[in-house]
Amino acid sequence: MTDPVPHRRRVRYSGKNPRRFEDKYKEHSPEKYPDTVAKVVASGKTPAGMHRPIMVREILEILAPEPGKIAIDCTLGYGGHASEILPLLQPGGRLIGLDVDPIEQPKTEARLRAAGYGEDVFHVRRANFAGLPKVLAAEGLTGVDYILADLGVSSMQLDTPDRGFSVKLPGPLDMRMNPNKGQSAAALLAQINSDELAALLEENADEPRAALLARKLAGRSLEKTTDLAQAIRSALPNQSEEEQDKSVRRVFQALRIAVNEEFTALDTFLKHLPNCLNPGGRVVILTFHSGEDRRVKKTLQAAYRGGLFSAFSDDVIRPSAAECGANPRATSTKLRWAQR
Ligand SMILES: C[S@@+](CC[C@H](N)C(=O)[O-])C[C@H]1O[C@@H](n2cnc3c(N)ncnc32)[C@H](O)[C@@H]1O
Repeated sequence: MTDPVPHRRRVRYSGKNPRRFEDKYKEHSPEKYPDTVAKVVASGKTPAGMHRPIMVREILEILAPEPGKIAIDCTLGYGGHASEILPLLQPGGRLIGLDVDPIEQPKTEARLRAAGYGEDVFHVRRANFAGLPKVLAAEGLTGVDYILADLGVSSMQLDTPDRGFSVKLPGPLDMRMNPNKGQSAAALLAQINSDELAALLEENADEPRAALLARKLAGRSLEKTTDLAQAIRSALPNQSEEEQDKSVRRVFQALRIAVNEEFTALDTFLKHLPNCLNPGGRVVILTFHSGEDRRVKKTLQAAYRGGLFSAFSDDVIRPSAAECGANPRATSTKLRWAQR
């Protein structure tokens, strides 16, 4: 007889409910604890390890996915949008999901496979959306009918302390969506000079105190997210706590964009976009800050004027007040679309 496997107690946490991301075991297993997850969502929060898709109704109305058609979700994330689009493409259609994140993407693939989407209808590719034409070629396609890009980071990336994106939770100052590629935010900060950092803070986050902060932060060895947040606050002793918090968010955003080369990827994606759509095909892009939205608006408008699109969203579309109330992470979202 083999020895019984010893029972291992879960690590205790202090207080009634777990506070730390990694202790929220019920939220990490939504299939086992649906009631807990529903309660967290009802309170306006995002359960640990999950991402709530934004503007689903609006996206489905614009894309209007039909059976037999092909969609690319350029930013698969948790698969929230993908799992809404996939059933509408059946029978006969398929969705290709791209993401650069080697940690979350396998989990999302497993979740969608378990939900019944096999290789015949759902392909997953570890790819940057800047390389969209290469993805199409690898799939044997010349164009697709629907493209979705929900820019930025997922809630899983943001909330997992070890990923180093969070302005509140202590973690390594990393911020790479693909931790196997490029340099961490800590490495970038350690080697950047003050002029370069000031330009980066302005360009990537419209930081009004860019020059001052750059002088205080450039070249520093700050290993933890909390070290950087503290260094930013200390650099602004005369500002209110609220203003300091805003600068903390902006500096984190600027570094994240730089580390992941987000604007280069977005510009390349936008340039290829019209050629990647079939005639009549539609694209929807969700942005979360002005640097992204400016690029999307300008490029879609120029492509429309140049005759590459037959229609595009002149006005930005925003999430409803009800959605922002239920999911505060939707608040800054802007939606733009275009049709080939
Ligand atoms: C806002 S989340 C998407 C959430 C998803 N729509 C959902 O409903 O679950 C953005 C995702 O895009 C990925 N991402 C960001 N930039 C990317 C790029 N250039 N190429 C591919 N994936 C990217 C991130 O790793 C992240 O998982």
